[in-house]
Amino acid sequence: DGKIPHTFVVFGASGDLAKKKIYPTLWWLYRDDLLPKPTKICGYARSKMSIEKLRSNCDAYMKVQPGEQAKYDEFWSLNSYVAGAYDGRTGYELLNQQLEQMENHCKANRIFYLALPPSVYDLVTLNIKNICMSRNGWNRVIVEKPFGRDDVTSKALSDHLASLFDEEQLYRIDHYLGKEMVQNLMTIRFGNKILSSTWNRENIASVQITFKEPFGTQGRGGYFDEFGIIRDVMQNHLIQILSLVAMEKPVSCHPDDIRDEKVKVLKSIPALELSDMVLGQYVGNPDGTTEDARTGYLEDPTVTSTSTTPTFAMAVMKINNERWQGVPFILRCGKALNERKAEVRIQYQDVPGDIFEGNTKRNELVIRVQPGEALYFKMMTKSPGITFDIEETELDLTYEHRYKDSYLPDAYERLILDVFCGSQMHFVRSDELREAWRIFTPILHKIEQEHTKPLPYVYGSRGPKEADRKCEEANFRYYGSY
Ligand code: BG6
Repeated sequence: DGKIPHTFVVFGASGDLAKKKIYPTLWWLYRDDLLPKPTKICGYARSKMSIEKLRSNCDAYMKVQPGEQAKYDEFWSLNSYVAGAYDGRTGYELLNQQLEQMENHCKANRIFYLALPPSVYDLVTLNIKNICMSRNGWNRVIVEKPFGRDDVTSKALSDHLASLFDEEQLYRIDHYLGKEMVQNLMTIRFGNKILSSTWNRENIASVQITFKEPFGTQGRGGYFDEFGIIRDVMQNHLIQILSLVAMEKPVSCHPDDIRDEKVKVLKSIPALELSDMVLGQYVGNPDGTTEDARTGYLEDPTVTSTSTTPTFAMAVMKINNERWQGVPFILRCGKALNERKAEVRIQYQDVPGDIFEGNTKRNELVIRVQPGEALYFKMMTKSPGITFDIEETELDLTYEHRYKDSYLPDAYERLILDVFCGSQMHFVRSDELREAWRIFTPILHKIEQEHTKPLPYVYGSRGPKEADRKCEEANFRYYGSY
């Protein structure tokens, strides 16, 4: 785009996401000279606010280092802010005037980030289209989840957006697609003969994709109670990882070739049934060392006291195609668990014809998404020394050791930069979304209609015991402490 200026508009500028993620991301990109020059930023929200106030809201999350103060001041000098309502035209007209002024009434490209509650998506996007579009540059709109709450509402949102924008203008963020190890999945799978030729039902016993957080709803109980863990994490983050682990090899690395394969594999997954799942809800731990740990989900004042919303879910998914028939894909996610961890665990089958008296363990390839990016392969070896015993060990590619000096940017940094560059590779296409909702909508409706009671589990535990039992039943052999 040469020297055409860019204007980045943050809707919901006074909110949580903006201050914790969007402004810090823009600052880090600016600090590292990665934002195209010139780029200016304009916040928009209902409350009246000065730039100084906006800046002090964000300060705690910006991680400004000593020596960066001058550049940090420079960053804020690129910012403006407009207060206005989400309904009516006036606010948007003011915003557009402000944008034109920032662009010196010249040609400019605009990016609109919707860091907003879904209830106002329709209104805001309609007004962007009618009032705020750049007339001579390109326009791109970044949409945050939740993309609806089931197949019907998601379709309505997709249809609405499609009536306003081309698919090329829409960037649906799933920030897990911006994580280092999630982006590495394609290379691991398709850049290694030893893995690509064993990545199938002939060799793999089960695949487990896990997301765990060691804290509860942390003030987000109002939002969370309406959505629950299946919509919050499983239907988007985990299903995205699953599709990258399970898809066939795309014909090229072109974003649409990749997304075509992701859609195809999702189409091979039947809609879930309740018998494929374990649901849980955390209760306080009376011995917990923090107030949070002692507080059960139902004691959160922003949650209805009779709520049956799950805070833990496990699903055993089937993929009915030639590569995966019979291999369970176990998705597991929860809040208030024993640790923070996101990983993919590929468990290989037992070695046939055992000569080691049952002492071999299955090979496992573990892709650790966080914390501490790593790829390790668990394998058997002879115990060293004067012995013929065998033991399990690891081929270990822990990034912290192997790539000491590499800077691993935050997921949002990569994704926002992709939007500037026009790359949709790591964004969700509308047909992926449709398939994901097809898989989850029937059980979500059933759970809500029948008020299915989740199993209680103690804050800080591994989740309901039933989940471990179901995993073993699904041909996952549990060895360690994960
Ligand atoms: C968000 C969910 O999408 O992802 C949150 O709404 C969750 O509930 C978060 O905490 C996890 O993201 P990360 O990057 O911290 O693993």
